[in-house]
Amino acid sequence: MKLYIDSANVEKITRINEYYPLAGVTTNPTILATEGRPYLETLKNIQSIIGMDKELFVQVLGDKAEEMVDEGKYIVDAISGKVVVKVPVTEEGLKAIRMLSAENIPVLATTIYTGMQALLAAMSGAKYVAPYVNRIDNLPGDGLRVVSNIVHMFLQYDLGCEVLAASFKNVQQVYDAALAGAQAVTVSPDIIEKFVAFPSTKVDVSEFRQKWTAAFGKDHSNLG
Ligand code: E4P
Repeated sequence: MKLYIDSANVEKITRINEYYPLAGVTTNPTILATEGRPYLETLKNIQSIIGMDKELFVQVLGDKAEEMVDEGKYIVDAISGKVVVKVPVTEEGLKAIRMLSAENIPVLATTIYTGMQALLAAMSGAKYVAPYVNRIDNLPGDGLRVVSNIVHMFLQYDLGCEVLAASFKNVQQVYDAALAGAQAVTVSPDIIEKFVAFPSTKVDVSEFRQKWTAAFGKDHSNLG
């Protein structure tokens, strides 16, 4: 499974990228607006932190397919490296996905609430689909069931499109998405930091150190 960080905060991305096996960074208009800086500068900054091998996702804002395609091409040209264009799944979005994919520009179909939206996006050439787990739960619906249905459907039809589950509000939702077979997840930095913040692990590590020090002294580096 691939792990992406859902953030445009360069300090947080730098920190998480140092410790966690990140496949890249996803952004959306809200996330970029929150940083309050020129968005292209922020995106280039992020690109320099993660390097050219990791993916950077940027969402288009246009209403019409042609506008989305123009924006997508502009973003891909403006930022070097592996850029994936995020396109919302509307009718115009589906058309834009087809047009961008035809030009070999990778697309993530975003704002997905149903399996049918995901199926159409994949049939239109999307490389990824992003079902919004927590936003579906709040409808109320069953976000994990939508993820699991999409994973199953893509396998059944051999569509070659990956499920990049998004919109998480806790660690359990992320774990459940992984169990459901999502090929990727994008998660905010505060939730990623909770993945390994398990109190018992800290207690165990401290106990091991204490026993070792009691027997062999303070030099932990000398295990011989
Ligand atoms: C990811 O690509 C989405 O934009 C994001 O996960 C939405 O998350 P939110 O529901 O927390 O805003």
